[in-house]
Amino acid sequence: MSISKRIQNTKVSAIRKLTPFANEAKAKGIKVYHMNIGQPDIETPKEYFEALKNYDKKVLGYENSEGINELRIGFSDFLKIHDINYTPEEILITNGGSEALLFIFLTICDEGDEIIVPEPYYSNYNTIANSCGVKLVPFQTKIEDGFHIQNKDSILKIITEKTKAILYSNPSNPTGVVYSFNELQIIADVAYEKNIYVISDEVYRELVYDNIEYKSIFSIEKVRDNLILVDSLSKRYSVCGSRIGMIASKNKDLMKEILKLCQARLSISSVEQYTATELLKLPMSYIHSVKDKYEERRNAICNFLNEIPGVKSYKPEGAFYLIVSLPVDNAEDFCKWLLIDFNLNNETVMFAPAEGFYFDNELGKSQIRISYCISVENIKKSMNILKEGLKVYNSIKK
Ligand SMILES: Cc1ncc(COP(=O)(O)O)c(C=O)c1O
Repeated sequence: MSISKRIQNTKVSAIRKLTPFANEAKAKGIKVYHMNIGQPDIETPKEYFEALKNYDKKVLGYENSEGINELRIGFSDFLKIHDINYTPEEILITNGGSEALLFIFLTICDEGDEIIVPEPYYSNYNTIANSCGVKLVPFQTKIEDGFHIQNKDSILKIITEKTKAILYSNPSNPTGVVYSFNELQIIADVAYEKNIYVISDEVYRELVYDNIEYKSIFSIEKVRDNLILVDSLSKRYSVCGSRIGMIASKNKDLMKEILKLCQARLSISSVEQYTATELLKLPMSYIHSVKDKYEERRNAICNFLNEIPGVKSYKPEGAFYLIVSLPVDNAEDFCKWLLIDFNLNNETVMFAPAEGFYFDNELGKSQIRISYCISVENIKKSMNILKEGLKVYNSIKK
């Protein structure tokens, strides 16, 4: 029996790669702070559980493959708050943003086609692309620039006849960059000139700090039919386990084809679509309070990182991640060492080595991606472990 080359050539998730070592540490009685994964610790709103209790259907049947009307209306209304205008008919409900990405890749690409992304990128983009036979082609953004896009030429020069789309997350996982309108304009111009899609993954849209105004690419009229929006409730409502996401596009031909995939998987969970509809009715003050909590954590982590000798970082503007350059040759070895050989008062920390977020592994070799989905107190403890760990590690290695 065989395993497909596509899957064999796909890397293990950069975020979970070191999990066996974390489990070993836990088995030894060591507490592990998880700064490797974007799993919000903020409580899911009580309205979600109330909705769950109130669900009163007697038979759990399949729902429309497009998603239930109430939820499509809910998303459409929610997006209007950000000046993103899609009618319920222009929205398809998916099993999280992950399925949305899979369906988009499968629909716009043939085997061997290319999608370009700013690097470093969300590592599952690569996994999903590989499983569809699609090649992800990166253009580099740098830590020195806070991972902002510098110019149009860096994008234009990697476009080939096989390029079908530009994909990015905004705000970004793994860098926390929030693209300015100027950067979005560059992306839109390239897409327009080259007649390719723009996949705007906005699962962290509301998590933007420093009073920066979120700018939407969806206001740029000339790329109206090129634009595809990916969204998800996972992060903003702390409902990662609920698996509700969506695709929106004005491009009727495209949506007609994506619907075939929705129909093949028949339906999304009826209960979760119902609870999601209730979540979308929460006032914006709820989302603002979530944003404030993450902003406080972002401020804390930046302050602690600034105090660690040899660490290079920047102030991320959104989401709950950042890439940090460490004074080590190989960040993955260091992250393993933190789990296997080091603890401070019986506690240690798990990070995601950043090389899995780069196409060219060498680029991220001495970097880690930190997710700050834990309390300020635990961030403080974790950063102390990092600081002391670096001291010990570098003294052993010399
Ligand atoms: C940038 C980005 N896009 C999409 C997803 C997928 O999220 P979900 O499938 O939970 O909606 C994630 C999850 O971490 C993400 O970080």
